Amino acid sequence: MRTPFLAGNWKMNLDRRTALDLVGALREHLGGRTEVEVAVFPPFVYLDEIARALAGSPIKVGAQNCCDEAEGAFTGEISISQLADVGASLVVLGHSERRHIYGETDELVNRKVQRALAAGLEVILCVGETLAEREAGRTEEVVRTQLHGGLAGITAVDMARVTIAYEPVWAIGTGVVASPAQAGEVHSYVRGLLAGLFTAEAADSVRIQYGGSVKPSNVKELMAVGDVDGALVGGASLKPDDFLPIIDFAR
Ligand code: 13P
Repeated sequence: MRTPFLAGNWKMNLDRRTALDLVGALREHLGGRTEVEVAVFPPFVYLDEIARALAGSPIKVGAQNCCDEAEGAFTGEISISQLADVGASLVVLGHSERRHIYGETDELVNRKVQRALAAGLEVILCVGETLAEREAGRTEEVVRTQLHGGLAGITAVDMARVTIAYEPVWAIGTGVVASPAQAGEVHSYVRGLLAGLFTAEAADSVRIQYGGSVKPSNVKELMAVGDVDGALVGGASLKPDDFLPIIDFAR
């Protein structure tokens, strides 16, 4: 039984006040509910304060990126141990904005995944094709390469702390959401790849989130797809009016 996992990737949005108000509303709304898992991914500078604001609640706090090195002369970077130190328990890696705007390769993403898991954190590994890749019939090839590359050297035991997010690049921030059928096809393909890489049992317990223009109006039909186990939400995670109904998709 996979617990639905709804996560808010704030990207480079919100300020201190709106961020605290948002997590205050989330905390009050969610109470002690455990039938869904909820996480927020604030910008680095607010992680410490947001983690403290959520201490004792079931809502997890994560980072949007980390350095692939442990420590040292890496100006502008943040290490995994620093993230853990301020209360982050998970990290999003391989997001398409990191891949496409900042040139992150599968090898770099993999070094970050390994470092995060070795430090005891959880990982959300993002994969997904561009519109051009989809139109060229390359969706499965792209997703397979990103998944194999990102998870190289990871064990089946480690996979208990990994979530995969399928985020088609053409659906991110565009308002164009993948149809339940499109999401379902790629999600079941990903689960099959995981079974090949690890074990059927490990693949069966990994949660696969969908990301890309998830809204209160489309979350229910996406979550109704068998292999869709959650959502990684950008724009609609920034306001309680949008994110709370997403968390409540089953109500
Ligand atoms: P949007 O929900 O704004 O499309 O962003 C999705 C995303 O990239 C989450 O990581």
